[in-house]
Amino acid sequence: MGLLLLVLLLPVPCVSGLPFYNGFYYSSSPHGWNLGHGEGLFSGMKLVVETPEDTLFSHRGANVTLPCWYRYEPALVSPRPVRIKWWKLSENGAPEQDVLVAIGLRHRSFGDYRGRVRLQQAGEREVSLEIRDLRLEDHGRYRCEVIDGLEDESGLVELELRGVVFPYQPPQGRYQLNFHEAQQACEDQDAVVASFEQLFRAWEEGLSWCNAGWLQDTTVQYPITLARRPCGGLGLAPGVRSYGLRHRRLHRYDVFCFAPALKGQVYYLEHPEKLTLSEAKEACQEDGAQIAKVGQLFAAWKFRGLDRCDAGWLADGSVRYPVVHPRANCGPLEPGVRSFGFPDPQSHKYGVYCYRPR
Ligand SMILES: *[C@@H]1O[C@H](CO)[C@@H](O)[C@H](O)[C@H]1NC(C)=O
Repeated sequence: MGLLLLVLLLPVPCVSGLPFYNGFYYSSSPHGWNLGHGEGLFSGMKLVVETPEDTLFSHRGANVTLPCWYRYEPALVSPRPVRIKWWKLSENGAPEQDVLVAIGLRHRSFGDYRGRVRLQQAGEREVSLEIRDLRLEDHGRYRCEVIDGLEDESGLVELELRGVVFPYQPPQGRYQLNFHEAQQACEDQDAVVASFEQLFRAWEEGLSWCNAGWLQDTTVQYPITLARRPCGGLGLAPGVRSYGLRHRRLHRYDVFCFAPALKGQVYYLEHPEKLTLSEAKEACQEDGAQIAKVGQLFAAWKFRGLDRCDAGWLADGSVRYPVVHPRANCGPLEPGVRSFGFPDPQSHKYGVYCYRPR
């Protein structure tokens, strides 16, 4: 009876007024509770899982560690066996994905993560997840779950990849792509279809675009920073506007692509004369490179500060130039990648942007 009272009464004064974290309470002095009676997992004991609150940023091809630590309150003297499960949360209807499960030293990884993930256990209570060779699809929210018998607690880690969002329209013009074609169009530009989070972040950074484009969740949206009449009207507030879910095969729009930060180099080829598209492709090859893709030019503009007032061909047959520091005779007054659209590839001559992988 004495022990039961102790158990019932003790946690109450400890819990009130404590910070609320990851869905459960924790004490700022974790070892301050000392019940001192052995170590059964009785009701006064808590399992605490901690993960970082801030979003982690990494880039394609990198190795990243998603931190996760657990402990007991009150602290245990001898370790207890736990099961660890890492999984990726579903985003807008995509199924959730198992990443890794571990018991003691045995672990198993799943799907696309097989062979690319392991548990990092540098500290006694560390169960961080290391992901090697990050892929573009790896961004998202991951749950670190610690299971001890009937106790089960978890924490979230959000991972984002560094990259740049850009709207894409094919040579045929506006609103030509169904969802599958949109995926292909981004892939052809060394990019993927952007997620809503990526588009939202781009809008916060100033992206404003008046044509609606597909996102990864098969919704169609467009970001507006300043209300304009031809673009939904003056009465609508700035924001990311959504047409909602659209049919992947039947509906046609533009697309928002997400290009990762680059390992290679994009440069304007110094060449004595202007070139047709096929001459431009050859000129890059003669220089030991390839003609750059749209996603590569955007990434070089955003992450390498590529700034050039000369229009150049790109692999898709569009002509563009990147401006970081706007100036006279060099397009609009905001930084951006300017586009001349898709000029006739034989009769028009321009410079060229080449890409050399590292
Ligand atoms: C990632 O880790 C693997 C194995 O530990 C290593 O071989 C590789 O060089 C690392 N990659 C990067 C980009 O650090």
